[in-house]
Amino acid sequence: MVIIGAGAAGLMCAITAAERGRRVRVLDHANKAGKKILMSGGGRCNFTNMYTEPANFLSRNPHFCKSALARYTQWDFIGLVAKHQVPYHEKKLGQLFCDNKSSDILNMLLSECDSAGVEILLETSISEIARNDGGYQLQTSAGPMHCQSLVIASGGLSIPTLGATGFGYQVARQFGHEVLPTRAGLVPFTITDQLKELCTELSGTSVDCRVSCNGQVFRENLLFTHRGLSGPAMLQISSYWQPGDTLEIDLLPDHDAGEWLAQQQRERPNSELKTLLAELFTKKLAGLLADLWFVSKPMKQYTPGELAAIATQLSCWRLTPSGTEGYRTAEVTLGGVSTDEVSSKTLESQRSPGLYFIGEVLDVTGHLGGFNFQWAWASGYAAGQYA
Ligand code: FDA
Repeated sequence: MVIIGAGAAGLMCAITAAERGRRVRVLDHANKAGKKILMSGGGRCNFTNMYTEPANFLSRNPHFCKSALARYTQWDFIGLVAKHQVPYHEKKLGQLFCDNKSSDILNMLLSECDSAGVEILLETSISEIARNDGGYQLQTSAGPMHCQSLVIASGGLSIPTLGATGFGYQVARQFGHEVLPTRAGLVPFTITDQLKELCTELSGTSVDCRVSCNGQVFRENLLFTHRGLSGPAMLQISSYWQPGDTLEIDLLPDHDAGEWLAQQQRERPNSELKTLLAELFTKKLAGLLADLWFVSKPMKQYTPGELAAIATQLSCWRLTPSGTEGYRTAEVTLGGVSTDEVSSKTLESQRSPGLYFIGEVLDVTGHLGGFNFQWAWASGYAAGQYA
């Protein structure tokens, strides 16, 4: 069995198959296995999420991920982490991170590969794949290879400098699979209109918000950057955003903005609105928003109509990003190999027996928070049981 891609999904698949007694070789063109694992979670790898469920994934077929996720759950991966005594903690919202470094997770997987007898060939490129009677014939930079089962675990297009290529999509097309249009997901937004200056001035400032777009809502932090908007709230909603769409941002997610303003007017009539907002936001953010949206004056001087308009601005800030930072900084790739012609149970191609697709190359994309790795582990495990 040959697996192309020594990332999260490929390594998990290799371990599972080798433990079943399969002879497994993993090929990767990079000089190191699991580069994304090392980079992930700011160097601490958010390796799973305690609350993983199918609703945390985007796909044209939202049911596809259910089978694999049910057969290798977050608790299974947590069990593996515990077996290797990797220290970890919950950061927030069920997100589990290593206490130390992401390399703890990679080393755990490599040690499992080693015990199971998996062979990993790095710096190996594949120039040709052909189907023959007994399986697949590969032309590689390490020479020709033959395998019964071929697993494509080459990931998506995000972060080309970490080895990402469209290789898996090419193979899928070669064997008659549909590849859905791809785009960057979990990615910061760029702003180029008059708000750009505001973003630049506030660069590094973070604020709790509720953001919505196309029927999806996330309550998380927004981070202003030199280029636009980032932070978990923006990364999450980016997966649901299409060019031209408007985001609605509630900067007072814990308050009814209208009621809060009315209360301030009653209780602190002589305080300036800017000063009151600075108690909720940073002083700088309060000042810049005031300059952008209203004339700051003592609360008692606002008419009810003015307060209503301010409430709308604060609770429903409508802005249209000019774009995203793209694959250069995206955590994931949306779209990819259509799940229509892949078995949700075995991850085997229904077009070409013995060919499997796992991980991010498939049209299954998780929310931010450890879900993408959980999909890699679960789909890798499922294919590893059958390939
Ligand atoms: P992955 O991309 O991991 O592996 C694919 C492998 O295939 C790579 O080793 C690559 O070199 C190889 N390959 C590609 N083309 C090839 C070719 N032509 N020939 C040979 N080999 C080839 N998720 C999460 O759940 N928690 C987190 O904390 C993070 N953090 C994070 C940070 C950053 C910066 C990024 C970019 C991404 C994340 N993610 C994440 C997402 C997560 O990393 C991603 O979803 C998984 O790594 C996908 O696993 P795969 O094994 O499918 O692909």
